[in-house]
Amino acid sequence: MALLPYVHPAWQIAALVLALWALRQGLRMRTLRLRKLHDRRLPLVDPHALTGLAFAGALALGYVAGPTILGGVRGEPVFRSPHAFFATLAMLLVGAGAALGWGLWRGRARRTDRALHAYCMGLALFVSLIAATLGLGLLP
Ligand code: HEM
Ligand code: HEM
Repeated sequence: MALLPYVHPAWQIAALVLALWALRQGLRMRTLRLRKLHDRRLPLVDPHALTGLAFAGALALGYVAGPTILGGVRGEPVFRSPHAFFATLAMLLVGAGAALGWGLWRGRARRTDRALHAYCMGLALFVSLIAATLGLGLLP
């Protein structure tokens, strides 16, 4: 029980490691595409989409767990912290990035969607790191 407040931070850090992995795959795809080293569909697309979906799902679960533990178990007020503000911003960006990524994966994307997807996800990662730093203030 004493370790319960640390479950959410550990989980979200694991999710962010998945995001870094997805970023690596995404940048690799971008390099291959810009160097025109592939003809049609990049071999990395499926692994990248699956890593990305695992990240988005894990982050969303952790987003729900945060206030549940803070309010439900620790009995503290929820959604009052700067951590919650930046976490929500990050979640919105991940949602938008995931929707664009899903469209790209399913082959129904507009011309600008690839750049927008990478932009949303990159910004989401940056905002998540701000949230992570602010999250330290909520530890017991
Ligand atoms: C919901 C999960 C995700 C899905 C379904 C998804 C899907 C895709 C797809 C289909 C592409 C286009 C590949 C191509 O044909 O060129 C792509 C590109 C890319 N993705 Fe993702 N992705 C996801 C998450 C992420 C995450 C978490 C990041 C980084 C933090 C990321 C960064 C990138 C980057 C940098 C590119 C390359 C953009 C370019 O070529 O200019 N993606 N993604
Ligand atoms: C990776 C570093 C992170 C740390 C150290 C951290 C730390 C914490 C702590 C200690 C709490 C209080 C609840 C508890 O003890 O379990 C909390 C709550 C919360 N966390 Fe995190 N967190 C991190 C990342 C994230 C991320 C990336 C998100 C979402 C994108 C997030 C979303 C939330 C939310 C929404 C709450 C409820 C806050 C409130 O109601 O004021 N956290 N976090």
